[in-house]
Formats: sequence, C-alpha cells, structure tokens
Amino acid sequence: MKKDLDREIPELNWESQLAERTQFMKSSAIRELLKFTQDPEIISFAGGLPAPEVFPLREVEEACSYVVREMGKKALQYGTTEGYWPLKEFLSDSMHKYGIPAKPENVLLTNGSQQALDLIGRIFLDPGRYVLTGRPTYLGAIQAWRAYQAKFNTMRVDEQGMVVDEIEHAYQKSLDESGRPPALIYVLPNFHNPAGTTMPLERRIKLAEIATKLNLAVVEDDPYGQLRYEGKDIPPICNLIPERTIYLGTFSKTMAPGLRLGWIVAPEVLMKRFVQAKQGCDLHTGTLVQYIANDICQRGILKPHIKKICRVYKERRDTMLDALTEFWPEECQWTDPHGGLFLWARVPDSIDTDRFLREKALQEKVAFVPGVNFYPNADGGNHAMRLNFSYAPPDVIVEGIKRLGTALKKEL
Ligand SMILES: Cc1ncc(COP(=O)(O)O)c(C=O)c1O
Repeated sequence: MKKDLDREIPELNWESQLAERTQFMKSSAIRELLKFTQDPEIISFAGGLPAPEVFPLREVEEACSYVVREMGKKALQYGTTEGYWPLKEFLSDSMHKYGIPAKPENVLLTNGSQQALDLIGRIFLDPGRYVLTGRPTYLGAIQAWRAYQAKFNTMRVDEQGMVVDEIEHAYQKSLDESGRPPALIYVLPNFHNPAGTTMPLERRIKLAEIATKLNLAVVEDDPYGQLRYEGKDIPPICNLIPERTIYLGTFSKTMAPGLRLGWIVAPEVLMKRFVQAKQGCDLHTGTLVQYIANDICQRGILKPHIKKICRVYKERRDTMLDALTEFWPEECQWTDPHGGLFLWARVPDSIDTDRFLREKALQEKVAFVPGVNFYPNADGGNHAMRLNFSYAPPDVIVEGIKRLGTALKKEL
C-alpha cells in the first residue's frame, strides 16, 4: 500500500490479473541467450542471425528513397490485410518456379514467418489440442503454439529429417490422449532448424501419403530453402499436396530479418480465416516495408544477392565443419547441412550441454543453444547443441570451435 495524503492506494498485483494462458508463455531460450551475447567478447553460435556484412544496404537505401519519392503517399498509407498486390504477384510467380502452385489470392504477407506461426495457432489450436512435429523442432513454433495451450507429440529426426514412419503412432497417441485428431503436422523439410537435415523426395512423398491417409493439415516452414550450398532443389511438400499444406516463406534470411516480412501460402478457403486473425492482430503488415521489398524484387536484385549470400555461408559452413574435425573430441558427431544456417552436434552422454554452456562454454566466451530447448516435451537433446555458422566470420568460427573443443576434451 502506498499513502497518498490520507488515502491508502492499493497496489495492483499484475500477475493475478493475467489470463490463464500466460502460464504457458515462456521467454525464448535464444532471446535470453542473445542477452549474454551482447558482450562483444562472446563468440556466438547461438542465434540464427544472418551475416550483417551481406545485408543489401545500398539496394535497400535506393529502394527506400525511390519508394518514398515516387509513391510515398501510397507507401505510407494503411494497406489491405492480405498484402500489397504486386508483391503477392511476384511471390506467386517465383513460387511457381520453385514448384508451389500459388496464385496471388493464396498469398498473405505477414510480419515474418513468426507471425504466420502465431496466426496458425490462433485459428487452429484449442487448449489441449495436439500438434505433431519432429524432436528436435523449431523453438519459435513451440513458443508460439504453447501460448495457445497446445500439446505436442513428436517423431524422431534422423539424418533425413523427421522420421515419417512414426507419424501414425503419434497421431493415434494424440487421439487417445485428447479425444481429437491432432490439429496439424509441422515440418521443416529444408535445412532443418535446428538439425540441419534435409528430407529427401521419397520421404516427402511418404509424408504426403500419410497426411492424406490420416486427413492431416501440414504446415511446411521453409525459411532456408533458397540457401542451398550443394545439390538440387527438392519439390516442397506444398508441391505434392497443396490442398492440405500451409507453406511459410520469409525474406528474413534472403534479404534482412529487420524487415520483418514473411508470407503464408494457403488454400483459398483458409485465407479468409487468416485475414480475420491478422486483422485483430495488426490490421496489416507495414505498407512501406512491402513496397521496399517489392521494389528490390521487381528490379531483379534478389536472385544475385542470394547467390552472393550462399557463397559466404558455404565458406562459413565448410570452415565450421573443418574446425570441428580438427578440434573436437573423436566421440562427438555432427550433421552435414547442405544449406541453411545451422548444424546439430552430439557430444558424449557424460556431458549435459545445458550445464556445459553455463559452467564452461560461457567462461570460455562461446555461446550455443543447448539441444533440450528444441524438444517440445523436454525429453531429449541433453547431449546435443545447435551451432549457427552464418553470423561469425571464418576466423572467429575457428577460434570458437577450438575453444569449445578444448573445453569438451577437459570434460571427458
Ligand atoms: C524454422 C523457422 N521458422 C520461422 C522463423 C521466423 O522467421 P522470421 O524472421 O521470418 O519471423 C525462423 C527464424 O529463425 C525459423 O528458423
């Protein structure tokens, strides 16, 4: 109680005012870790940050001034919830080339894919409803859907991505436990975050068959598909079963994450629901940012830019793989990603990576994300970690991997 003259003013207990679902909201381990990594001395393999050296600064600067000068009155105005039509046309056209049969009407612009995940939660997930996903899986999806009190049943992830043979079992378990079939299956077929694996075509076909047989909706999250350093593109799940797939794309890794610009491709019947959900959330994605991205896309700058990024990231991936071989104990293993930003490393069972991070790695001024954070039911990942190879320059990657290797050897 505070005293105000002769009156007692009760203090508000904010926690007791909050909705029940806030109990299920957690801060992301990565955001928490990124706080540590603000220390310039720390070598961070923790975040999923693109290399700032390859941000298209000049291109964005030119696009900004062109858009404001030539079409500022429209670019600074409210827009439609669905998004800026010319950008939707560009995206549907480029996705056609990538194997996704999307019309502009099937595309909704979002504030990054993260908002798309939240909107999916809004329209699909009742409290206690199950989502099927791999273990490990993308932390941001777990975080978004937990807020809607979703539950998770999981399938193993091996070198070829999610083990689709386990879907039927997880489906049945969800049905037994909640009395309803799972709301959806969430997959990351290309350069999986965090595992770094890519699902081959045969497994994608099998996944499509199982989803059809079980009448499941599929969410295909594909932020890294364009960042391929070897091999050929594999048809997306959305190519195989477009009628039951919600596909998520983003400019975060190909242009810049600060733009906060992503998109959903969904069957037309669903678009109305996404639009309703998004209207209540933020009316629409920033008009200015859509105009800027559209200008960059229409001028044909994106493709060569992606080529350039891929060259830089391939070198960093190779540097990390070589450093792991040179400096880490023989007992450790890691994935060999053909694209994306991450690899997944396993250490011997005697080492708990969460404890190792807090007690050893951070003392050595190196950060990574412990594997357990990517397990929705916290039932694994204790002897694994996710390593990002896009952010640190090659010489820093070598130094960081060397420090971790020395600390790991001391633990064994
Ligand atoms: C698999 C996956 N999905 C979604 C996101 C969110 O991306 P955005 O920046 O587009 O919100 C990320 C970001 O790292 C990701 O790795």
